[in-house]
Amino acid sequence: MTESDDKAPLPRLVAEPWYVDRIEINDHRVAVSGWSMPPDPLTKPAQGWFLINGLPFDHTSYPLPRADVGEVFWQRQGAAMSGYECSIDNIEQIYPGGVLEIRRVNPRTPEIERGRDAWFIPDPASHTHTPDEDQRFRVIGNRDLRGFFISGATDYRRLDHVLQCLRGKRLHQFNRVLDWGVGCGRIARHFPKAYAASLVGCDIDHDNVEWCRSHLPGTYLPITATAPLPFPDSTFDLVYGVSVFTHFGEATQLRWLDELRRISMPGATLLMTIHGRTALDFGRLPREEYWRLCEQVNRKGILVSGANAQLDGHADHGGEYVNVYHSAAYIRDTWSRYFQVEHILPGYLLHQDLVVLRKR
Ligand SMILES: C[S@@+](CC[C@H](N)C(=O)[O-])C[C@H]1O[C@@H](n2cnc3c(N)ncnc32)[C@H](O)[C@@H]1O
Repeated sequence: MTESDDKAPLPRLVAEPWYVDRIEINDHRVAVSGWSMPPDPLTKPAQGWFLINGLPFDHTSYPLPRADVGEVFWQRQGAAMSGYECSIDNIEQIYPGGVLEIRRVNPRTPEIERGRDAWFIPDPASHTHTPDEDQRFRVIGNRDLRGFFISGATDYRRLDHVLQCLRGKRLHQFNRVLDWGVGCGRIARHFPKAYAASLVGCDIDHDNVEWCRSHLPGTYLPITATAPLPFPDSTFDLVYGVSVFTHFGEATQLRWLDELRRISMPGATLLMTIHGRTALDFGRLPREEYWRLCEQVNRKGILVSGANAQLDGHADHGGEYVNVYHSAAYIRDTWSRYFQVEHILPGYLLHQDLVVLRKR
């Protein structure tokens, strides 16, 4: 018997992922479908399990067969019965405040993690400027324009939710905000224009920085892959970096933790994403490989899983741009030498965990 034969499917995944993969809008009728890990057999799904702009749908079918999802999440019991289809016949305002919200009601989600239970679809009328396919590919690894808008709006609002819960203020209400590794502004484009004077974005991908400069409100700076950043000590009270620490080996990571500490004000909040257990859950890995990698990440704490060529020819990264997994225990032990590690929220931005830090 091999080591993996005794690993039975799990009753729950740490983040219980879900997704909206189709939205049809016809005048005031909206139909939505997707998948969400099937509910606890004791919690009967009902009308009101999914909400649109805070309202129940008129029709909800859940759970439905989704063999494709079952194949990806084979380690989760019942994942092949995760489909949902919902519709509402007459909704007055489709994009109140510029976004359409689809929410799943999951009573088990703690308040701070509730951002994970909503997806946001931005009003296309407010997003007429788009970076080209190659520019987008370098930040999300695919060319799907709809996904670029939905993931950006959703990530922005999920970060906003955490800040409201923990700090009692919105993302745009911080005085000096840094989007570290801004790319082509997938997230920064959702920062309210009226507050853009407080937003700075920086990246080693100078073509993408130039795109942000020409199309988005805020200040955007090209930087090099070696610290220091062009900011004085204690400049920012909020720094977020989405999918940046997912790409550094340990030595580079430690250098950047040190530099982020330097440019953060005492008491500043930092929101950084990592690839943890949920990224492995999404990995479409064969069983043996999945359990082997889980064990290796737990044992080593940080594991470089391979090279990443997405920036090649566009940014000088000196071969230091790779794909990395972290364990939560490693983050608590190692990152706490630089910051207070307040929370690690699994699968908070789809497959990425969110690490909430505070500068002491
Ligand atoms: C996966 S992309 C994510 C981009 C953006 N944060 C988003 O979520 O759409 C990673 C980004 O980090 C940038 N990057 C890599 N090394 C960096 C560094 N040392 N400092 C700042 N940005 C860096 C890359 O150029 C790329 O734009």
